Amino acid sequence: MSREISALQKARAAYQPKLPKALRSGCINVELGAPTESLTDKEDIKKLFPNTYGQPVAKIVEGESKLNTDAMKVGVVLSGGQAPGGHNVIAGVFDALKAANPANKLYGFLKGPGGVIKGKYKEITAEIIDEYRNTGGFDMIMSGRDKIEKPEDLAACKKNFETMGLDGIVIIGGDDSNTNAAMLAEYLRAQGSKTVVIGVPKTIDGDMKNDQIEASFGFDTAAKTYSELIGNICRDATSAVKYWHFIRLMGRAASHVALECALQTHPNIALISEEIQAKGTTLQEIVDYIADVICERAAAGKNYGILVVPEGLPEFISDIKAMIDELSNILGKDEQYIHSLEDHSERVQYLSNQLSDHSARVYGSLPTDIQEVLLRRDSHGNVPLSQVETERLLIDLVSDKIRMLKTHGETEAKFSPLAHFFGYEGRCAAPSNFDADYTYSLGYAAAQLVRAGLTGYTVNVQNLIKSSDEWVAGGTPVTMMLNMEMRKGKPTPVIKKALVDLDGEPFKHFAVNREAWAANDLYLFPGPIQYFGPSEVCDAPTATLALEKKEICTA
Ligand code: FBP
Repeated sequence: MSREISALQKARAAYQPKLPKALRSGCINVELGAPTESLTDKEDIKKLFPNTYGQPVAKIVEGESKLNTDAMKVGVVLSGGQAPGGHNVIAGVFDALKAANPANKLYGFLKGPGGVIKGKYKEITAEIIDEYRNTGGFDMIMSGRDKIEKPEDLAACKKNFETMGLDGIVIIGGDDSNTNAAMLAEYLRAQGSKTVVIGVPKTIDGDMKNDQIEASFGFDTAAKTYSELIGNICRDATSAVKYWHFIRLMGRAASHVALECALQTHPNIALISEEIQAKGTTLQEIVDYIADVICERAAAGKNYGILVVPEGLPEFISDIKAMIDELSNILGKDEQYIHSLEDHSERVQYLSNQLSDHSARVYGSLPTDIQEVLLRRDSHGNVPLSQVETERLLIDLVSDKIRMLKTHGETEAKFSPLAHFFGYEGRCAAPSNFDADYTYSLGYAAAQLVRAGLTGYTVNVQNLIKSSDEWVAGGTPVTMMLNMEMRKGKPTPVIKKALVDLDGEPFKHFAVNREAWAANDLYLFPGPIQYFGPSEVCDAPTATLALEKKEICTA
């Protein structure tokens, strides 16, 4: 029985994503620039990547092609959290390979990097691609958070690639997965393997960006989806006039998603973790600030409002961050033992003895469920912040504060809070026109880097604020984006995460407006993502990208 698809799915299946001019031409070539250096820690990184360090930046141009036209076999894998547009990256790789030589073959590794290690894959055919063009999700081949890192995993990958006769693999992932792609590239080159490795910048978090990579894919669609929902809640708040909505937004460490949604919807309060860290703001000061806004609005007859909080906040409050770092070090040594303790109170007791006095007090002051989440780490050593209900913690603390103010006769505010968390709702949305075009271009360009025999690169598409015709595709050597950071208590090479720049235009725009947004109801209602209609409605980039590029133009 054929699967029923919606009217929108039908219409989107027919959408032909736009490509930059050089990629549309019949003669595509790759030009190489000068050698590069890593961001910092040059000597350490050079030692860890002796075969791939310092490679030149690559640019895809129209010109006499020197790229491989022999029949090739290429693999593709989706790594980490879902981000809108992943299927279009695969479609771009597929179409580019078939355009270069119809005998080229594409294989999709199943359930993320674990599928690469285990050698689990399927051939991606034209029928499969056509079913998934311009759709959200990663369900074509699924994703996973395994990490290709241990010597035995690297060796297993090499063996699988040899058995398959694989010429290249495209790893679609965030900063950690692109770092791992570089490690795999280094290992394969050292071993004399013919398989090259190209990464693709994916994450709704928007934190994999730098001079070379203007945006990670999926951020545009996810932030617009959350902004639609926040706008709807703003309208509900001004209709019901009785609730304060505390909305936590996904985005792991950086506050890009929260900031973008604030620029799109103008909530009464948006907390930006990077600012809180820079000012050394304590949890109590955050609570006092929120309570002040609530009381001021109540005094003006407004017992309702919208607060946006980024999910990464706990890691940016200095004493919580210090406590998490200490916990990470303890887990680095005693993780198995701690998790072998059956009782929560036994774990707390053990940790209280290991943590410094201050951190033990901070840990002890948190609710039990948050204490437990802080003991978990993903395969990349990150705290699973999506499971920390910061919005509820803030509601509890703010409620206590308002109660205290009422007791002292300092406010008559009526505080009826509702908690929301938007994260998974946006990660598999059908990609916006921007993400559909961007991801298809990234995939199409990644295939050219494989054909050029480059390895240890992340594909990029630049000039994103312009029309796709003027986009420029190329590749950034991953070692150029690396620095050394402590992970699970050990110095580790990682791609530097881009946090919100407090001197950047997006934050400055927010900062000059926030007082007015706090006191008044200046909400914006962006509505759902539109795929058909006027360009200013369908093709607008994120406010973040528009403001960042304005900054460059006026600099
Ligand atoms: P990536 O960094 O892998 O793109 O994942 C992003 C993200 O959506 C974060 O915003 C969130 O904290 C995390 O994934 C949730 O992880 P999981 O999918 O394992 O629940």
